[in-house]
Amino acid sequence: MTSEEIRRRFLDFFARRGHKIVPSASLVPSDPSVLLTTAGMQQFKPYYTDPAAAERELGSRNVASVQKCFRTSDLDAVGDESHLTFFEMLGNFSFGGYGKKEAIDYAHNFIVKELGLPINYVTVFAGGNGVDKDEESEKIWRGLGLTDIRTRGQDDNFWGPTGNEGPCGPTTEIYVRGMEIWNLVFNEYYCRPDGQLEKLPTPASPASPNRGEPAGRLGVDTGMGLERLAMVVQGTPTIFETDLFVPLLAKLPVALPLRARRIIADHVRGVINLVNDGVRPSNKGAGYILRRLLRRMMAYGREVKFADLLFNEALVVFTQENQQFARSLAAGLRQLEQFRHLDAAAAFRLYETYGLPFEVIREKFPELQAGEFAEKFKEHQAVSRAGLEKKFAGGLADHEPATIKLHTAHHLLLAALQVVLGKQVKQCGSNINQERLRLDFSFDRKLTDAEKKQTEDLVNEKIKEDLAVIHKEMPRSEAEKIGAEMEFGQKYGDIVSVYFVEDGQGKIFSKEFCAGPHVARTGELGHFKILKDEAVAAGIRRIKAALEN
Ligand code: ALA
Repeated sequence: MTSEEIRRRFLDFFARRGHKIVPSASLVPSDPSVLLTTAGMQQFKPYYTDPAAAERELGSRNVASVQKCFRTSDLDAVGDESHLTFFEMLGNFSFGGYGKKEAIDYAHNFIVKELGLPINYVTVFAGGNGVDKDEESEKIWRGLGLTDIRTRGQDDNFWGPTGNEGPCGPTTEIYVRGMEIWNLVFNEYYCRPDGQLEKLPTPASPASPNRGEPAGRLGVDTGMGLERLAMVVQGTPTIFETDLFVPLLAKLPVALPLRARRIIADHVRGVINLVNDGVRPSNKGAGYILRRLLRRMMAYGREVKFADLLFNEALVVFTQENQQFARSLAAGLRQLEQFRHLDAAAAFRLYETYGLPFEVIREKFPELQAGEFAEKFKEHQAVSRAGLEKKFAGGLADHEPATIKLHTAHHLLLAALQVVLGKQVKQCGSNINQERLRLDFSFDRKLTDAEKKQTEDLVNEKIKEDLAVIHKEMPRSEAEKIGAEMEFGQKYGDIVSVYFVEDGQGKIFSKEFCAGPHVARTGELGHFKILKDEAVAAGIRRIKAALEN
């Protein structure tokens, strides 16, 4: 049975049982409090407390979907037999339409009768945290002939927001071939903002889910990973031998270690789907997750022809990121080669200086502890957050594309002024919004028209040359040694963030201490124009400039 057939059979099964089929939501959820879609229930969350809205908006209280999902929590486990970042979740949901009996019957029916798989065992909630043991589910399973019913506690068999507001409740899980296949969540409670659990009423009329008296609010939320299900249906030893992965893995060189091939296969699917849903690489949020996937792919797959694996936008995004990262990666790997021993602090420096993924460093030094590395990472985040807040204080906390472009133009302008007026020009202040940049610099007279024109032309020349903008993190002493520009009067931490604007041959036009963000290449900027040149104080001039398309 192909995975496509599994999807179809699942949806048909629930459609025949009165469920409305709802298409997958985007990987980028409309709920701004979550980064990416991690479960099928996410797009249905409001309906658990407002079932009437489900009827109005979806046309039913009972729905089923195949939802694309992305989970970073399993990133480190990717490469083993069954963990993935991107996966598809088969799920049926009910917002007060039916209860435990129907949900368990459906699941049992689908696994045993429809797919012909034997259930190994099931788990039910053991009770705890003021919630009783789920004896009702246990009884239902017994009634279906199940004998191996195991009880599990809060960590395994209770789903929902811990301490946050939202629907939650006990779960029952189905195991096939020793592997968790299907998670059935019964949202019997609503967790109030103060952490108190409020019991929701149970359905009034389970036999006629969508008719008669409005049912109660107990919710059903189930999730079954398609890849794992395909693995047991197709009888393969791991998810990577299923038809979802075989064609992809066939395109990867067999010389690569197995783990690397699996990681690349997982990440390729993640990248294609993230890009498809509009995510682009960046230093924060979903964009940062995408960037991590891209960089791990590059680090693990230096011999891989990614053009055979990616297509359309995903290939464009990969190629751009690769151009930006390739040199830094190669330098990082060369550095890595020179170490005989490496502790977490040194590993972190390799990561922050060259962007070398931790997993790649650990491949050579398996004794490195992920926990210690994470500690270093946290310390650094605290430092750079402080730096960033300072840098962007005064209306600059703005990551709009127009602002980011002006930020890079600002670096080009300072470097151009130093070429035209001399190295003694130093930055004393700056301010950038979406319309224009403002640069204050030390210089003791008005610029001539010729000097202004020369400066403008030089910036535009550097834009035309489409130079790469490269980000490096390094010890402050090292950045000072190479003469990176720093703003007069600013205080910097021990580890600093430096942006370089350079051509492919290592010729550097600009290097500045800066928290970013910046564009990847100067070619993105458009036409640079000086709007105004004025004096702000004795020996300090101010230029305002803008970019035109
Ligand atoms: N929402 C539940 C899960 O993701 C079904 O496991």
